[in-house]
Amino acid sequence: MPTPTPPTIAVAGASGLVGRTLLALLAGDEWRAHPVIAYASEKRAGRFARRGDERIELRALPEAPPPHVDYLLSALPASVAREVVPGWRDAGVRVIDKSSAFRTDPAVPLVVPEVNAREISDAVRLIATPNCTTIPIAVALKPLLDEAGLVDVRATSFQAVSGAGAGGLRAWETELRGETDPASPFSEPIHANVIPVIGALDEHGSASEERKVARELRRILALAPLPVAVTAVRVPVAAGHGIAVEAGLARELTPARAIELWREMPGVVVHEDPSDPPTPLDCAGCDEVFIGRVRRAQHRDNALLFWAVTDNLRKGAATNALQILARWLKN
Ligand SMILES: NC(=O)c1ccc[n+]([C@@H]2O[C@H](COP(=O)([O-])OP(=O)(O)OC[C@H]3O[C@@H](n4cnc5c(N)ncnc54)[C@H](OP(=O)(O)O)[C@@H]3O)[C@@H](O)[C@H]2O)c1
Repeated sequence: MPTPTPPTIAVAGASGLVGRTLLALLAGDEWRAHPVIAYASEKRAGRFARRGDERIELRALPEAPPPHVDYLLSALPASVAREVVPGWRDAGVRVIDKSSAFRTDPAVPLVVPEVNAREISDAVRLIATPNCTTIPIAVALKPLLDEAGLVDVRATSFQAVSGAGAGGLRAWETELRGETDPASPFSEPIHANVIPVIGALDEHGSASEERKVARELRRILALAPLPVAVTAVRVPVAAGHGIAVEAGLARELTPARAIELWREMPGVVVHEDPSDPPTPLDCAGCDEVFIGRVRRAQHRDNALLFWAVTDNLRKGAATNALQILARWLKN
């Protein structure tokens, strides 16, 4: 009997940073047999992207899917995903969306497989994947929550320029050459600088990136009233978001026990030696969440301080989406 062809995977936004990372990962052994179609905007139709050694032609993204597409990995801006994704889903394609467009829709699961993989089921046709800062915090907090209960979370993120897409990376590279990019997505120069605001401020002075992380964490951890305070900072680093986290716990948990829990967890790498903390360079091109600087808070009872860092384009985006797809395919 001939072997059936594995499901066809479409990547939308394939010329962007997340889309290119998805294509690179789809060249790996686990995915090589799947036919892949790559979509970008009309202006790039006919150009090529890379899926490992293979050159793959970029097509203009159609409003409705062609009949042979089974799954769509959407790495589009939220405004475009809002327009395109419902039509593809309603036409029978299963969609994993990387943007913020559907993350607050209660009918759309918001999934980090290490935390809430149970929400991946045949009954759903669209799954959202969280913000690239939310994902590592959720992964790191899950075993602490299970073991000692979570009372509150404070986090300060140090977010790479690639988190702002190809335009963010380009602006930084332009500034590195001593020039100015008039299309920079940043409100201030980013080379040799840090910018402590990411996104629009609300009436309380909280930035949209900070609100996203707080909202998404509560949803993924299923802790609706959890107090979460976030400060999101843009830093001149190519890739790799670092986050300093304070986790307030209901019961005592020693740093040694937290390290043991993280060691047992797939997808986590712990740097036990506090003088050897993981950095963005350590995690670049890796799929794991790296954790270090684990210590007891001195200013309150039952709170742990730690540092987490992850490649925002891998576990913060493409890897998380492919982990969801792998589970969906197994259902
Ligand atoms: N960067 C990260 O670290 C990260 C992490 C998590 C989630 N996300 C989310 O993932 C999504 C993609 O992010 P990114 O960083 O890859 O952005 P990006 O580098 O700016 O790429 C955006 C992609 O969307 C395509 N696109 C834009 N407008 C389109 C249209 N009207 N029709 C068809 N395609 C269109 C672009 O195609 P052209 O090249 O042809 O314009 C490009 O392929 C965003 O929603 C972002 O918020 C990003």
